[in-house]
Amino acid sequence: MKKLIIPTRRTVKEYPIFIGRALIGKIPKLIDLAGYSQILIVSDENTSKLFNLKLEASHISLPSGENHKNFQSVELILNKLHDMKADRKTLVVNLGGGNICDTSSFAASIYMRGLDVLQIPTTLLAQVDASIGGKTGINFAGVKNLVGTFKNPIGVIIDVDLLKTLPEREYLSGFAEIIKHGLIFDKKYFSTLRSTLKFSDSELEKIIERSCQIKAKIVAADPQEKNVRKILNFGHTIGHAIEALSLENPKPLLHGEAIFLGMIVENRISYISGLLNKKDFLIIDGFLRKIVKPVQLDTERILKKILFDKKNESGRINFTLLKALGRAIYNMEVDEKIIIEALNYENN
Ligand SMILES: NC(=O)c1ccc[n+]([C@@H]2O[C@H](COP(=O)([O-])OP(=O)(O)OC[C@H]3O[C@@H](n4cnc5c(N)ncnc54)[C@H](O)[C@@H]3O)[C@@H](O)[C@H]2O)c1
Ligand SMILES: [Zn+2]
Repeated sequence: MKKLIIPTRRTVKEYPIFIGRALIGKIPKLIDLAGYSQILIVSDENTSKLFNLKLEASHISLPSGENHKNFQSVELILNKLHDMKADRKTLVVNLGGGNICDTSSFAASIYMRGLDVLQIPTTLLAQVDASIGGKTGINFAGVKNLVGTFKNPIGVIIDVDLLKTLPEREYLSGFAEIIKHGLIFDKKYFSTLRSTLKFSDSELEKIIERSCQIKAKIVAADPQEKNVRKILNFGHTIGHAIEALSLENPKPLLHGEAIFLGMIVENRISYISGLLNKKDFLIIDGFLRKIVKPVQLDTERILKKILFDKKNESGRINFTLLKALGRAIYNMEVDEKIIIEALNYENN
């Protein structure tokens, strides 16, 4: 088992990230639970059946899926906390993917002005990204993560064994954020990833560890996303718009699938804007296209959506772009014509 400590600025409390196997049976050995009056385990309809934390606790299971990352789910959690007479010493344990991590951490952050949260991420995406960094949130008015808070957990327990039951599509979706970490921060790491995304158990464990380190390092430098943390948004300006629009369909894209498409388009924007050289652009484009099936993009609706994206300051369309493989630059204002050109390219 590895134990990473999130290095933080003095203003933010450090918390441990445990990465290993067979960890969920050992929670009291990893985290000091003695000071808590009660525990609420928040899971979803799948994770509640799959995993047993063997803790004395109350339970709530939410419907799964991005369309349930909303106030209704938050209210269910708040009602449960109220019913169990939760006080400030109640611990909320999140047992699920990014949706549970985001929704439940948000509910915990507003109940009695904030309860402690322990993250036990169960998807690859949540293990390498959503459970770390303290961003909570729900979707609102058709905009991804429009409502949320910053709330660091007391710890993150990443049990790689939990991924054994993860469907292949969800596993691939998690790789979007992993590849993003390589693209924005670590060229060498990117080169260790293969477009087949097939890895042995020990390789996967190393990948999870490296991605957690990268995310933790970036977040520690800028916990509240005032500057450098914005590089983690690569692929997300376009990706979130694609994801939000796809949620209107009966079979929506997964978060990672939308982010893969977002990274393809934003890689092209980086190139057309003259930031990224052709060689790096082609390596990245070729790699991503081996993973992602082409999708028809609605340029007009995507543009309209990103104009409402919370990342845009004073009405301009700001992007995180690539200036080289492994190096990102944030707050890049991009001309609408370039965005349209990059989006339309996908439809030819
Ligand atoms: N807060 C952040 O910093 C951050 C970062 C990245 C992504 N996110 C958010 O994360 C969300 C996506 O998370 P996700 O991809 O984990 O989706 P998810 O939470 O919806 O989980 C995907 C599906 O897998 C099921 N599942 C979970 N663990 C399983 C397991 N071990 N075995 C079998 N099935 C399992 C779930 O029930 C669900 O049906 C998005 O809303 C995204 O915005 C947040
Ligand atoms: Zn993401």
